[in-house]
Amino acid sequence: MTAGSTHQDVLDWTDACRDRLPAYAALRARAGEMAAKLSAEVAAGRLPFLALPFMPALEQELAGLEAGYLKGFEHMLLLGIGGSALGARALQKAFAPGQDLPGHTGKCLWIMDNVDASTLEAHLSRLPADKTLVYVVSKSGDTIETIGQYFLVKQWLKNALPETWKDHLLLNTDEKKGYLRQEAEQFGMRTLPVPDNLGGRYSAISAVGLVPAAFLGMDWRGLVRGFAAMAAPLADPALNAEKLAAHPSFEFAAWSKALMDAGYCELISFFYIPQWASFADWFAQLWAESLGKGGQGSQPIPAVGVTDQHSVNQMFLDGPRNKACLFVERASGPAGLPFPADMPPIFDYLQGKNFGELLPAEALGTRMALTQNAVPLVALRLGADDAERAGKMMALLGAATLLTGWLMGINPVDQPAVELGKRLAKARLGAAGLDEEKAALSVFTGQCAGQGKACARDERGF
Ligand code: PA5
Repeated sequence: MTAGSTHQDVLDWTDACRDRLPAYAALRARAGEMAAKLSAEVAAGRLPFLALPFMPALEQELAGLEAGYLKGFEHMLLLGIGGSALGARALQKAFAPGQDLPGHTGKCLWIMDNVDASTLEAHLSRLPADKTLVYVVSKSGDTIETIGQYFLVKQWLKNALPETWKDHLLLNTDEKKGYLRQEAEQFGMRTLPVPDNLGGRYSAISAVGLVPAAFLGMDWRGLVRGFAAMAAPLADPALNAEKLAAHPSFEFAAWSKALMDAGYCELISFFYIPQWASFADWFAQLWAESLGKGGQGSQPIPAVGVTDQHSVNQMFLDGPRNKACLFVERASGPAGLPFPADMPPIFDYLQGKNFGELLPAEALGTRMALTQNAVPLVALRLGADDAERAGKMMALLGAATLLTGWLMGINPVDQPAVELGKRLAKARLGAAGLDEEKAALSVFTGQCAGQGKACARDERGF
């Protein structure tokens, strides 16, 4: 990480090809309409992710947790999925990467955002229950993947710590609704509220991501500061067309929608800050779940430099010309070790250089290659890769996603299409009701011979 950088943060639009996007000017002209919508939504309390009304109370709570309760644990086991997990993982990988490095001795965060049976068992058989805090994150409080794990982890805690198991559970869920809230009330467990209207993928800078950040000793105040600084103008009652037009989130939204209209149906997010690779996954979920609606949107493609130069980059450069790119880099990075003097002559060009010089050289090469291969590209160049910049970037991309959705005429804060798969999985497990889903599943799996063509599945051994 680069500390104390004085470089400015820059959005470089030079290669964004805005002049070649026919819809761009008309979309920019909608700044007044979008500003009015933002103001109305903020005033109605529907955009807490920008207005952050919960933050003063949360900051106080976090300071208390950090100084006391959290200190009592060496491990945090986070149960959550989607927006309830990806922000925490991005923050962990960026700002507390020690767990992935040899010789780690500090605190550990284990994020359980899948339902692999052996992984859960491995965690429960190896983690010391008495030093583990289980942080259960679910806005709805009903998500089967999270709640399924919760049942087993709760049992594990009860078995290991019959007297104190409740002290090892911290639940982050809706203030009033959902199964987890009922649990908290029944057993009197410690909870943190997910504020109303704060959807999973827009909630990283709330207790959802900040509790793990505080646990791992990150600069969570810096994250909040950076986020709030970027979000504040959008939540300001004095917002107008001119101010929104000058905000980078609106520029990004107009560009993104104009790209979609011009047939660019894929958006690469290429992170040239290796430790920030998981932000590409965070952004992919934010973008996909928010904008993939009604046959519209652009498929986010997370990528990390330099690793993906040797994997998917060939397709970026010379595959279908349907891709645009958000290119994230930093003004400078760590110098790294000097190359030794006794290298073979073919590597003479490395003489006198440090290992840290490879990354920016390759970033420049890839950025230029993308540009020369007609990939519209906006470069987000951060003055430093600190927590404040991460918060700023998260607010920028969150707001840009929301505004892109509004420009598309869709609702960017729901996710109706993924509900079908969830209902079908519950039907498969025998949940009450869901008769239509159960019947449809029988047809799909071919278990209802004679009920139409869907039964004739074409499955072949190989
Ligand atoms: O971003 C979203 O809204 C989703 O990915 C949710 O976070 C995810 O489905 C988990 O939902 P919940 O937090 O209700 O358990």
